[in-house]
Amino acid sequence: MIGTGFMARAHTNAYKRLGDFFPELGHRPVLSTVCSRTPGRAEAFAEQWEYQKFTTNWQELLDDRNIDAIDICAPNDVHAEIAIAAAGAGKMILCEKPLARTVEEAQPMVDAVNAAGVMNTVWYNYRRVPAVTLAKQIIDSGKLGRIFHYRANFLQDWTINPELPQGGEALWRLDINAAGSGVTGDLLAHCIDTAMWLNGGIRDVSAVTETFIKERKHQLTGQVEKVGIDDACIFHCHFDNGSLGLFEATRYARGQKALYTFEINGEHASIRWDLHDQNRLEYFDHNDESIVRGWRSIHVSDSDQPYIKRWWIPGVCIGYEHTFVHHAADFFHCLDTGEACSPTFEEALETQKVCEAVLESAATRSWQKTGVHW
Ligand SMILES: NC(=O)c1ccc[n+]([C@@H]2O[C@H](COP(=O)([O-])OP(=O)(O)OC[C@H]3O[C@@H](n4cnc5c(N)ncnc54)[C@H](O)[C@@H]3O)[C@@H](O)[C@H]2O)c1
Repeated sequence: MIGTGFMARAHTNAYKRLGDFFPELGHRPVLSTVCSRTPGRAEAFAEQWEYQKFTTNWQELLDDRNIDAIDICAPNDVHAEIAIAAAGAGKMILCEKPLARTVEEAQPMVDAVNAAGVMNTVWYNYRRVPAVTLAKQIIDSGKLGRIFHYRANFLQDWTINPELPQGGEALWRLDINAAGSGVTGDLLAHCIDTAMWLNGGIRDVSAVTETFIKERKHQLTGQVEKVGIDDACIFHCHFDNGSLGLFEATRYARGQKALYTFEINGEHASIRWDLHDQNRLEYFDHNDESIVRGWRSIHVSDSDQPYIKRWWIPGVCIGYEHTFVHHAADFFHCLDTGEACSPTFEEALETQKVCEAVLESAATRSWQKTGVHW
């Protein structure tokens, strides 16, 4: 495990749940070593989460022949270096999203895992919200018919304060060098991954971005510096299937904390989902008898719905952390069967291409082709 922050906790929790809730898996994770740049942190994390060892140098994990898999939960600027070295050392890799800061950085990561033939996955965890997986099943069944529209939002409000510094521990998301971009790589990357998984490739994009607070104090240098990230981004696009897409992400939507929503409109039916009510899927079917036709609110908690039978009785809910358990379980299941665990680095590279086209479009005020092959 590389990192001891938010995602390190979410993933470690997932690994610890597998044996109890997915007992049939042939392979089980052993929490070997945790790495953090800050010595005290690695040690405290190892003690709390029951890792056998801790270190401040991630290279030690690659040199350890007992370690089979590396989980990258560090900021975006170190994903490529660690992943390429880990692939070279023959380790399986589970990498947090976005794959990297740029396509230029991400492509060699894909090349490295392919050349080494090591299993890999990227934690676009929202695919494994049961309601979102159910949406995928309904869409794939063809019930929606021809698709006309896909729209998604990811709205937050935590960077409105101009006094908030950029950079450094916990604030690396505001630092262009560490993050690579602002809301595009952080929030829209999730929306784009889900969108292409549900609705196919995005062909071209037209975007606007805005940086509302132009200068912030940098936590590491102590200097007031230009802000390089996009605070907000809106783009529209064409999907390969001919439908139109509309996406928005911001950290300036006062009152919104992590409002990820999507809606897809087809000829016969529509679906919408909202992270703030993640166990529900809303579904409208125009084929319903007209006097009862309307939006259904499906409480996704029945044992025949995706992943649910692993957990509790119908009607009671699961939460955010379960998305990571599901992803980890799918990874270990793939390890047993020899299948690829989607999204792989290769798929995450396609999301990276869309993010890059979005930023290029905003910078040049022009439509950009994504070059995505989905
Ligand atoms: N899938 C999701 O929904 C989701 C949610 C949050 C974050 N993320 C991604 O997870 C990654 C980590 O984000 P986070 O929220 O956990 O960040 P965080 O700031 O909470 O934690 C980052 C950790 O990385 C460590 N670190 C930084 N540089 C390091 C290095 N060179 N070597 C070893 N450790 C290093 C820090 O000490 C810290 O423990 C990012 O890529 C982010 O985009 C994904």
